[in-house]
Amino acid sequence: MNTALNIDDLRLAARRHLPKTIFEFIDGGAQDEITLRRNRADFERHAFMTRVMTDVTTRDLSTTVLGTPTAFPVVMAPTGLAGLLRRRGELAASRAAAKAGVPYCLSTMATCTIEQIAEASPVDRWFQLYVLRDRGITKAMIERARASGCKALVLTVDTKLQGPRERDMRNGFTVPPKFTLGTMIDFARHWQWLLDVGLGPKVTFRNFEGTAVDNRNAVTITQFIAGQYDLAISWKDLAWFKSVWGGPVAVKGILSGEDARIAVDHGADAIIVSNHGGRQLDGAISAIRALPGVVDAVQGRAEVILDGGVRRGADVVKALALGARACMIGRAWLYGLACDGEDGVARSLEILRNEVDLCMALLGRTTIPELDRSILVEP
Ligand SMILES: Cc1cc2nc3c(=O)[nH]c(=O)nc-3n(C[C@H](O)[C@H](O)[C@H](O)COP(=O)(O)O)c2cc1C
Repeated sequence: MNTALNIDDLRLAARRHLPKTIFEFIDGGAQDEITLRRNRADFERHAFMTRVMTDVTTRDLSTTVLGTPTAFPVVMAPTGLAGLLRRRGELAASRAAAKAGVPYCLSTMATCTIEQIAEASPVDRWFQLYVLRDRGITKAMIERARASGCKALVLTVDTKLQGPRERDMRNGFTVPPKFTLGTMIDFARHWQWLLDVGLGPKVTFRNFEGTAVDNRNAVTITQFIAGQYDLAISWKDLAWFKSVWGGPVAVKGILSGEDARIAVDHGADAIIVSNHGGRQLDGAISAIRALPGVVDAVQGRAEVILDGGVRRGADVVKALALGARACMIGRAWLYGLACDGEDGVARSLEILRNEVDLCMALLGRTTIPELDRSILVEP
């Protein structure tokens, strides 16, 4: 049984389990990590106002996001390379999501294929797309995601080039990981990881198998992105994605209200307010601070999802009070996966769910629609 009390406990356990190179890849942000810290710190600007003497015997945390039902207002964010933490990490994560009843968004950059994830569990799946210069490969991926039953397409728009992750540069992080003198000592000290992942099947971007994209030789992620991603994509392309996909489309990586309005004008069904977990432009505004501006700009014409810095159930409740439909969580589930595989992801979801539940009860609220601005004091 995993005895972690909170997500920070899972983070510490993940740090013990993983080689430094791998832990820093998930834990780190861009450059001085100002935005990474802001994503957390800005949640503290908001204080709760409780109501007492209301009957909170029965609480209902369930809701829907983009038409997908969820047991509580959380969606598992797309994260590439989960298979670097645990062998076939994406499969473990999707199984835990299915059991917890929350949607799982798989990443273009996963180490398992779209089809393997579909076979692994009956989870409600979304597919996250990075737009490649090769539109043929991009289109084929969208079609595979649709054929395998994904319910929404998430278009990530904040990663035309990769943010400078200096921890990864210092550590010589590549995919697959390279065995150098430095990394070998690091890997050997984490023998459980070494047996599971380091000496396991080669970790690659499996969704690119059978395409012209070379996914076998060790590259930095910066090199991969610079070689493949489309720098020219613009708003007018959204119509093409909508028509090829034929279902709900969420645009991930928006911070400005003006961009949110333009995205909705071009057909976006949801806006994911995100700075990529502080991994792209360092110094960017935190996701929680950007949220109210996006909610105001969208005026109910699309759902708004908060992504970045969520480590407590109270963070989810605050985001909902500010107008979010749900929150995405990235590192929170990755830490769980790293330290305990499927059980660890299940524990991270259980922790957050229980925290949301308790927070609502102590606020004197019993349903998700009751989480409005009245539960917060203006900062
Ligand atoms: C290790 C790692 C890999 C990620 N890979 C992707 C990805 O492939 N696609 C994507 O849109 N976002 C990716 N992200 C960003 C997450 O989807 C999400 O925006 C971010 O983790 C949210 O911040 P949080 O970790 O504080 O919850 C990644 C984040 C991490 C930590």
